[in-house]
Amino acid sequence: MAAKKLVYPAANRNKDPILSVLKRYIQRGTNQTLLEISSGSGQHVAHFAPHFPHVTFYPSEYEPRLLESIAAYANEYSNIKYPLRIDVTTDYRLWGNGIFKPNSLEYVYNANMMHIAPFECTIGLFTNVGQLLKPNGLLITYGPYAFNGQITPLSNVNFDKSLRSQDPSWGLRDVSELKKLAEINDIKLIEIVDMPANNKTIIWRKNMH
Ligand SMILES: C[S@@+](CC[C@H](N)C(=O)[O-])C[C@H]1O[C@@H](n2cnc3c(N)ncnc32)[C@H](O)[C@@H]1O
Repeated sequence: MAAKKLVYPAANRNKDPILSVLKRYIQRGTNQTLLEISSGSGQHVAHFAPHFPHVTFYPSEYEPRLLESIAAYANEYSNIKYPLRIDVTTDYRLWGNGIFKPNSLEYVYNANMMHIAPFECTIGLFTNVGQLLKPNGLLITYGPYAFNGQITPLSNVNFDKSLRSQDPSWGLRDVSELKKLAEINDIKLIEIVDMPANNKTIIWRKNMH
């Protein structure tokens, strides 16, 4: 089983700083649910789940080949479900044969996808999450971002260039664009947390009605 577990060095470096942010936002209480979009290797969900035994974690991936690694990690924790194959550009009602109901989730977590996938994935993320979160539920995103058309520092400028040269539909997303996308999906940006290596964790909250 252990051989199937992929190890991304970046995930090993960032999992603790991200956990510190989650500890500030994940509430105590029972029966909460966190859906992770694009779980990658599965390292993040496996690192977080034991700290929040009252939360059920649903990891997911677009790449079928990664599901085996996520499952190998998930298998060790009773509060992590078997990974789902989710293409975030599709309607959430199709995910996992329709297991997710509207306004039903406390948390959605997504790391390092927006800049390494076409912009349609970012649109799909906000569109689906706007419908899936409970009022006051949280979307937590992690990665490097642009602000008002500017990318800093130079290492992130170069990273953005290298992403765009690999695929013109990739690249750092601008938080001012994301705010507009959030707004039309009933979501508000509530905090931007500085993280190591010029990354951010951004906390978004679904509006109360
Ligand atoms: C750089 S990896 C990040 C993995 C993990 N979250 C991490 O931080 O280590 C980007 C992920 O986005 C996923 N992705 C690409 N297109 C997607 C889509 N349409 N729906 C959901 N995930 C997608 C890829 O499969 C990939 O695993």
